[in-house]
Formats: sequence, structure tokens, C-alpha cells
Amino acid sequence: MRKKWRFGIVGAGGISEIHIKTLAKEPRAEVVAISDLAIDRARERAQSHGIPHIYEDFRDLIRRGDVDAVIVCVPNDLHAPVAIEALRAGKHVLCEKPMALNADLARKMAEVAEETDRLLMIGQNNRFHSEISLLKELIEKGKLGQIYHAKTGWIRRNGIPGWGSWFTSMERAGGGPLIDIGVHMLDLTLWLMGFPKPRAVFGRTYGVFGPRKKGLSSYGSINERGVFDVEDLAVAMIRFEGGTTLTLDVSWAAYVERDRVFVNLFGSEGGAAAELHDRKVTLFHEEGDTPVDSVYRPARRDDRLHLLKNFIDSIEGKAEPICTPEHGIYIHRILDAIYQSSQTGKLVELD
Ligand SMILES: NC(=O)c1ccc[n+]([C@@H]2O[C@H](COP(=O)([O-])OP(=O)(O)OC[C@H]3O[C@@H](n4cnc5c(N)ncnc54)[C@H](O)[C@@H]3O)[C@@H](O)[C@H]2O)c1
Repeated sequence: MRKKWRFGIVGAGGISEIHIKTLAKEPRAEVVAISDLAIDRARERAQSHGIPHIYEDFRDLIRRGDVDAVIVCVPNDLHAPVAIEALRAGKHVLCEKPMALNADLARKMAEVAEETDRLLMIGQNNRFHSEISLLKELIEKGKLGQIYHAKTGWIRRNGIPGWGSWFTSMERAGGGPLIDIGVHMLDLTLWLMGFPKPRAVFGRTYGVFGPRKKGLSSYGSINERGVFDVEDLAVAMIRFEGGTTLTLDVSWAAYVERDRVFVNLFGSEGGAAAELHDRKVTLFHEEGDTPVDSVYRPARRDDRLHLLKNFIDSIEGKAEPICTPEHGIYIHRILDAIYQSSQTGKLVELD
């Protein structure tokens, strides 16, 4: 019989539910334990999904000899400590995004994965959307030629998660929408562009809605006694080796017409735009001298199942991991530089 990989989930909040449902679709996986400081939350998830073991302390879950892999679903400040302990206990780790709070912690995680020879993958599920795979295919077929500029973003009008919870605390989350959803767009756009070497970063963050408790979403629970000391909008421009550029716009809250998740790629032979909320990709090209827009509407696919399958295939040595720790470190260096640039008002040069 084919081996079933036994998973433990650390953190029983919103995203754990999605991971548990995804694991249920994968015949090579089963969930044997779940842990949460709020033990009732762990119990509730365990009861509704038939998970046999629950723990308050994640170390007890990690100590279990029958856990092969751990999915890290805790607040951002706990990604590095939980992932490192799990790796040191010999577990493979799928860590939710953002990889860590900053590039130094991300490097530490990568070092421990290397030392322990365990798989560490980052849950950049948005790369696995059919629209993004289609963009990758168009690029690989040469339809865009040389990409010299990209414009990407995730814009919400009223989308601040859990006001006053860990989400809106700089200490616990490491930032606002930039590290929460900007991380997805930077990751997938730079993956499409082949991770060019970043040279200079200019960025600015704003906190306009959060401090007034405006622009709230229904995601996460509100804590009236908590703080909001992160941004609710961020913009950045990054210049890469060779002169390629990328601009990024992200918001949890802003006065805009509509919510958008988008990538626009500007190439020497063609352009492409993906609008993820519209589930649409447009290729801008020419037939003779005539400008042509070709619209693609690829069938929806389960991005998280594709991510999980790549994680398991990588453990089994059948595939290379797609979302590597090196990519995570690369993205964190850019995020760190955007926050630094916003604080100093200066361009941050990277070598
Ligand atoms: N990939 C995505 O699209 C996506 C979507 C949502 C969240 N996330 C990420 O997933 C992580 C969790 O987000 P969420 O929305 O589930 O948050 P959440 O607040 O709903 O859940 C976090 C859970 O962790 C628990 N926790 C805190 N400290 C703990 C500890 N020491 N041991 C065990 N449990 C502990 C909390 O009690 C809570 O139940 C975040 O890093 C977030 O960025 C990713």
C-alpha cells in the first residue's frame, strides 16, 4: 500500500480549515494532530474533521513520532520559531506565507532546513492559480519577449482583517497589507519574471483607515483592546539588474472603485494582464500591424491542492519544490527594503 504522509497542523484558525479540507482531497495525506493555544478551537476543528489528537502546546504535537510533516498556520511572528522546532524534530514543514517577519529570520529557517535535510516549503498558493500558470506558459512560449516592466497589486476597499488582533500589530504580523497580501503578488510576479536581482527599492506605506477603525472586513475577530500600528496601503517601485522595473500597489482599505488582484507584464513582443477576481488573462499582441487582444478564461483549479501535491511529490523525491526557502528570503529582502525606504524616505540600494 502507498505510504500516507501524516500531517500535524499548528494553529487552528481561519487558514487551518482550508488546509484540512485540502488534505482530505489528497489520498497520500492524513491529519493526525492539531494544536492551538486556544485549545477549544483545536478541539472544534478536530471534532468536525475527525482528527484524533489535539494539543495546547505545539511542542507536544511536534514530539509525536508519527507526525511526518507540519503545516504552520500560526500568526506571522511564530512562523520561524515553530518551523525551526519542527525541522529540528525531523519533520518536513509547509509554512504559511509570509515565510517569516523579515529576511534574517527567513535565512535562519532556510539554514535549519539545510542542516536537518528536511523539506521546507512556503505556502505561496497564488502561484498555482490557473491564470498564473497560463501566464507562465505564455512567457515560456516567448509570447512576451523580454519583460522589462511589471505592474502588480492586490487592492481591497474594505478589507482590514481582525482589527486589534495579531493581524494589525507590527510586532506580531511584521506589517499590514504589504506583508500579508503584497507578499503574494511580489512572489508570483517575480516568479513569472524569473527572480531578477533587485538593485534599488523605493516605497511608502500609509495608515489612514486602520487608526480610525474604518475599512474593516469580516475576516478575523475584532479585539477592541488591541492595536493598529501597521499600514493599510503600500506602494513601491523596484529596479532590478539590467534596468527591469516593477511597481506594486496593495491595500487593505482605500477609496477605490473595486477590489482587484492583478498582474500586468510589459514585454518587447507582447503584453499580458491577469485579473484574478475576473478569472481572466488578456494577451496584447499584433497580427501584422493590427493590435490584437486575446482573452483567455482558463478553467478554475484548486491552487492549494496543487501546492500540497508539489509538497508531497517533493518529499517523495518525484518533483522539485516550487516555492523554496530561497524564494522566501529573496521576497523578504524586498519587503524589508520597502519598509525601510518608507521609514527613511530614501531609496534603498541592494547588492
Ligand atoms: N495563503 C493564504 O492565502 C493565507 C490566508 C489566510 C492566512 N494565511 C496565513 O496563515 C497564518 C494564520 O492565519 P489565520 O488567518 O489562520 O489566523 P488566525 O488568527 O485565524 O489563526 C491563528 C491561530 O494560531 C493560534 N496560535 C497562536 N499562537 C499559537 C501557538 N503558540 N501555538 C499554537 N497555536 C497558536 C491562534 O490561537 C489562532 O487560532 C498567517 O501567517 C497568515 O498570514 C495565509
